[in-house]
Amino acid sequence: MQTQWPDSNLVDSSFGPDGPAPDDLVSPSEVYHEASKLRLPDRPLYAWIAHVNTSPEVRQTISRPLTHLRGAPTVELPRVAPTTARSFRSILEGRRSGRDYSGVPIGLEALGSLLYLGDGIVVRMDMGGGATWGLRTAPSGGGLYPIELYCIVLNALGVPPGVYLYAASTHRLECVRAGDVTEELVDAVPAQAEMVRSAGVCIVMSAVMPRIKFKYGERGYRFALLEAGHIAQNLLLAAEAQGLSGVAIGGFMDDPLNRLLGLDGVDEAALYAVMVGTPSPT
Ligand SMILES: Cc1cc2nc3c(=O)[nH]c(=O)nc-3n(C[C@H](O)[C@H](O)[C@H](O)COP(=O)(O)O)c2cc1C
Repeated sequence: MQTQWPDSNLVDSSFGPDGPAPDDLVSPSEVYHEASKLRLPDRPLYAWIAHVNTSPEVRQTISRPLTHLRGAPTVELPRVAPTTARSFRSILEGRRSGRDYSGVPIGLEALGSLLYLGDGIVVRMDMGGGATWGLRTAPSGGGLYPIELYCIVLNALGVPPGVYLYAASTHRLECVRAGDVTEELVDAVPAQAEMVRSAGVCIVMSAVMPRIKFKYGERGYRFALLEAGHIAQNLLLAAEAQGLSGVAIGGFMDDPLNRLLGLDGVDEAALYAVMVGTPSPT
């Protein structure tokens, strides 16, 4: 039996048909959706976007959006494609959310291809004027790549437990924090403690908000969420292709997860995560 989300120990019985109704006078999501709509009269925004698209100085700056942790210990990742006889169709059809893991560690090669296929740089494009753009497996609004991938290593071969930033430009993990953070991750995903304790890695997608909002304003937040969804699907299919088991995690506690990653939760915040482990024998 798969563990369900949310776990019954998180359910407050004072809510429900007889409990207090949520305050539905103002819906922040409706307000946000209105505020982030594109409309034909928004000419200053279009002029700004056109300027960003054509200015050599701006293009040169935004062609290097990647965060690096200077001086951090790094782990070089292999860049091997999973060898599978399965067709693309069978991988798509076979992907199911998997939450029951055996506790067998994830191999370094599997981790390398997970991140490479998830959001690795696959081609470097000369944009002129000295700007080179690293294009990745997932699409990105305006090629601004606001999403960072943090790899929380719980149980993997060849990578000590800890929190790592995935440096796509070098295909390395840069160590943010060494040590076993399993119980801190449990605090961030309390409804699924058993799953966290048996997983191999948790890949968290955060958004560096100014990297996308400087160009697209409020619309940029939508773009960041959409991009995280593209990357998550790549990660889940890459896991499936390698015989690993993965599940999208949207039900995390924001502040504990941001704290674990060292993010302020405003300029950079965790948006979405994918848990991956070795499947339990069925
Ligand atoms: C945005 C989003 C958030 C999700 N969050 C969680 C989560 O926090 N925990 C979990 O176990 N599953 C989560 N899921 C997985 C869904 O429960 C799962 O995709 C759904 O039950 C359909 O099953 P399938 O993925 O096997 O097709 C999430 C899925 C999406 C798309």
